[in-house]
Amino acid sequence: MQNKCAIELKNIRKTFGPVVANDEINLQINRGEILCLLGENGSGKTTLMNMLSGIYQPDGGEIYKDDQQIAIKSPKDAYDYGIGMIHQHYHLVDVFTAAQNIILGLENEKMDINAVNDKVKAICDKYGFNVDPKKKIYDMSVSQKQTIEIVKVLYRGAEILILDEPTAVLTPQETDKLFAVLRNMKKDNKAIILITHKLAEVLDVSDKVAILRKGRYIGTVNTKEATAQSLTDMMVGHSVKLNIDRPVYPNPQDKLQISGLTVVDNDGVRKLDNVTFTAKTGEILGVAGIAGSGQKELLEAITGLYPIKEGSIKFIRDDGAQEELVGKTPMQIRQVGVGMGFVPEDRLGMGLVGSMGMTSNMMLRSWKSGKSIFFNKKNPEELANKVWKDLEVVTPSTEFPVRRMSGGNIQKVLVGREIASNPPVLLTAYAVRGLDINTSYAIYNLLTEQKMNGSAVMYVGEELDVLLELCDRIVVLCGGQVSGIVDARTTTKEEIGLLMTSVGGKEATNE
Ligand SMILES: Nc1ncnc2c1ncn2[C@@H]1O[C@H](COP(=O)(O)OP(=O)(O)OP(=O)(O)O)[C@@H](O)[C@H]1O
Ligand SMILES: [Mg+2]
Repeated sequence: MQNKCAIELKNIRKTFGPVVANDEINLQINRGEILCLLGENGSGKTTLMNMLSGIYQPDGGEIYKDDQQIAIKSPKDAYDYGIGMIHQHYHLVDVFTAAQNIILGLENEKMDINAVNDKVKAICDKYGFNVDPKKKIYDMSVSQKQTIEIVKVLYRGAEILILDEPTAVLTPQETDKLFAVLRNMKKDNKAIILITHKLAEVLDVSDKVAILRKGRYIGTVNTKEATAQSLTDMMVGHSVKLNIDRPVYPNPQDKLQISGLTVVDNDGVRKLDNVTFTAKTGEILGVAGIAGSGQKELLEAITGLYPIKEGSIKFIRDDGAQEELVGKTPMQIRQVGVGMGFVPEDRLGMGLVGSMGMTSNMMLRSWKSGKSIFFNKKNPEELANKVWKDLEVVTPSTEFPVRRMSGGNIQKVLVGREIASNPPVLLTAYAVRGLDINTSYAIYNLLTEQKMNGSAVMYVGEELDVLLELCDRIVVLCGGQVSGIVDARTTTKEEIGLLMTSVGGKEATNE
């Protein structure tokens, strides 16, 4: 009979120069359980898990496996101890097949590929994955790539699996599938550690929750006895209000008029089909839809990144003059006053320079916006300080290289910079992905502040609860068409759910 406790951490400490990332951490990881690791951005979750996967060595403390003290000096050591980690950034070779990637780096790599395929298939059948071993990585979606990473770890015999924010890049449907797999692994007596900022997921899938705050271990609670509020309070250290104010702007004006917008992809598929709606000043206009319903194409079309087949996008100036955006370059559109704050899969690739600090990254944006009408006169230092303070960015200074910040803190700089640049039209997509709950609410408040300053804000998001609380109106997309435009104050989740899956249930109107 195996021990229930697979891994125990005692008094683990890790520093990076003056930064104490982990201090006196104690943690028990049990077999047959899903443990969520919860903590604000920069609280030390990834650092702690990197010590279990052999990427970092602790500066102090001990690690035990089945009551034996162990030293994990390399990722190979970690595998030998049965520990496998799925990182947020995947390490796959694009031109190789799934099977080739799964055996990559194994000593007996020259093994019979048919035998490999069989073993992969056996793993997939056992846990409920859907993988084609012969498919090349470059043909795969993000979620398929993640599956390969998980299978890779299982193939190496991992019995302790660590997943660092796996759901940040998944649609709700993909998340459900992943959780079904995790539950199967739990039944198979594996120990699973899951990092996620989404409290609904924590409450749904975990048995226990361990909480870190500012590098310190706060405690472990049984999920059954926890609520979103109790977890947030433990995480933040004081009581936090989890609701969104939705003030009414006195005099909304039309700001962005989209009519008959149609775009077609390389294969001739209509990604947007005759889309018509108006975004107004002083309002947050939500965009809802099942993933892949045209949200991405809509934002790209508005910002000049997607070729437009038909239709028009008019920006209405304060004096009422209209400016057609179709045909303009992305830079010209930005200069007219359409700002875009969204969360790319690769945060550092997206307009942030990793080696520079916050201030220099702010400068980058102001410089790019040139002498446009929304050129922000505040100096970059001031902007950096505002973002630092408003979003509580965890960094020793505004000069600290962005690359060394935690994932969520990089995200704060990216979104904060966009909001702080004050564009008349602010487009946001998945703005709170990877952000802790407290910061997510800070972002909702900043968006509401922008709205009350008279910006037209568009918010593309996945969580219906947030869309219903934050937005004034919601445009629902279904298969590239507008299936409805609803008043967020009076609609219901059910109504939006129905519109997300059917066009024609209700005529698309612009009111
Ligand atoms: N290589 C490094 N050099 C310097 N500081 C680092 C390094 N790696 C992490 N840190 C710091 O350690 C702290 C903890 O970071 P970590 O990435 O573990 O946080 P996290 O809890 O995973 O946050 P998030 O939710 O944003 O992913 C942060 O202050 C971060 O800036
Ligand atoms: Mg992290």
